[in-house]
Amino acid sequence: MKERFFVRELPEHLGQEVVVAGWLHRLRDLNKFGFAILRDRTGLVQVVLDSTQLEQLKGLQLETVLKITGTVVKKQSKDPQAEEVEVQAKIMEVLSPVTDVLPIEINKDDVEAQLDSILDHRVTTLRNLKQRAIFRVQAALVHGYRAYMERQGFTEIFFPVLAGAASEGGAEFFKVDYYGREAMLTQSAQLYKQMMVGVYEGVYGLSYSFRAEKFATSRHLTEFNQFEFEVGFVDGMEDIMAYAEASLREMLATVERENTSELKLLNVTLPPLGEHFPCVRLKEALQFYKEGTGIDETKEPDLSPAAEKWLSTVWAPHTHGSGFVFVTHYPTSKRPFYTAVDPQNSEETLSFDLIGFGSEIISGGLRVHRYDEQVARLKAKGLNPADFEDYLAMHKYGIPPEGGFGMGLQRLTQNILGLANIKEATIFPRDVQRLRP
Ligand code: 4AD
Ligand code: MG
Repeated sequence: MKERFFVRELPEHLGQEVVVAGWLHRLRDLNKFGFAILRDRTGLVQVVLDSTQLEQLKGLQLETVLKITGTVVKKQSKDPQAEEVEVQAKIMEVLSPVTDVLPIEINKDDVEAQLDSILDHRVTTLRNLKQRAIFRVQAALVHGYRAYMERQGFTEIFFPVLAGAASEGGAEFFKVDYYGREAMLTQSAQLYKQMMVGVYEGVYGLSYSFRAEKFATSRHLTEFNQFEFEVGFVDGMEDIMAYAEASLREMLATVERENTSELKLLNVTLPPLGEHFPCVRLKEALQFYKEGTGIDETKEPDLSPAAEKWLSTVWAPHTHGSGFVFVTHYPTSKRPFYTAVDPQNSEETLSFDLIGFGSEIISGGLRVHRYDEQVARLKAKGLNPADFEDYLAMHKYGIPPEGGFGMGLQRLTQNILGLANIKEATIFPRDVQRLRP
């Protein structure tokens, strides 16, 4: 629409005739005249309608799509959600009439319904200003990540989703019938990003990951995205952690810069970053947890959800002014076959998780880069090296010492915005039950 003005620009056009277009967000019919609140992608504006225009709206419902030609005037009554100007309508055109009442009201501050109903009606509930704001923040995280990685000179890669071998081990993968052969949906881009270190040295990308999770939780999806990263010629795991921290700082700074109004609307203050993210070994982390809470999980091979929460929302903020904490040296038995083992102690790996304001948001580490060692590690994990011929080709034909990480897009969005369920941070979530819309 060539002649269209956006709501946000209207204050600059006081006194002028403009064309605005959008959805009928609210309507107040006072008989002789009325007020329509029109919503476009930049905001809300009040439009003053005369009785003829009100007549045009008879039988039509909220969300009707309108095009209005009118004059921008100073606003009389203050609606706190709208701009300081309003439009005195001259001509109103119905671009798309809506005759059905919305299944769930979307024009209040919050959508007042159970999460499942909100998700069932995602097509319209996402139009609610707060719901929509979540995914503007998510988009800004992606802008920040890409900007950071490009500045390092790394190459963006688009990874396949259909594959012949699993990368993360376990039984959590979806099988697909592929012309009579068995294929699977990738659990992450792990094997592919590693192969690309042999080509570009440093690669990144946003992948699709699939996990056939057995239970529905507030932190797990069956389909999600990862910010993937992999780089060669590293001196150790610390190099990878430095990239993780720097990229995350830039992502959050981008959100601060691009999403001021969204953060205000969502009433969110981003988690504190501190001078630097603290870094502790898993064993130390479990010891701190025991000392801080009296709960003894020091014999466990991993952090429980409660321990992750305590470490990142209590311990790290208090000791380091940070909502983020690196936990390192996870047991060899718990990490996938590609993870480098600590030469000092074969029971532990040179791997890390970044716990970010509530739960794990990143897993990463140094990888096995020598051929013989990788073959031995596959066998030790009960896997057949013959099934990994393509993957092993990179080891066979030379890759440098390397490592990387994967950061969950929806998990990060959930944690920085303090959302109770990861599905609120997923535009069209899939879980054990849900496959629509
Ligand atoms: O910890 P994960 O499984 O690690 C990998 O996939 C490795 N390839 C990463 C690497 O480079 N070593 O997944 C990485 C991140 C998690 O930290 C979490 O944020 C997110 O992906 N994630 C999930 N998000 C939503 N639903 C699920 N089921 C998730 N599983 C992992
Ligand atoms: Mg992990």
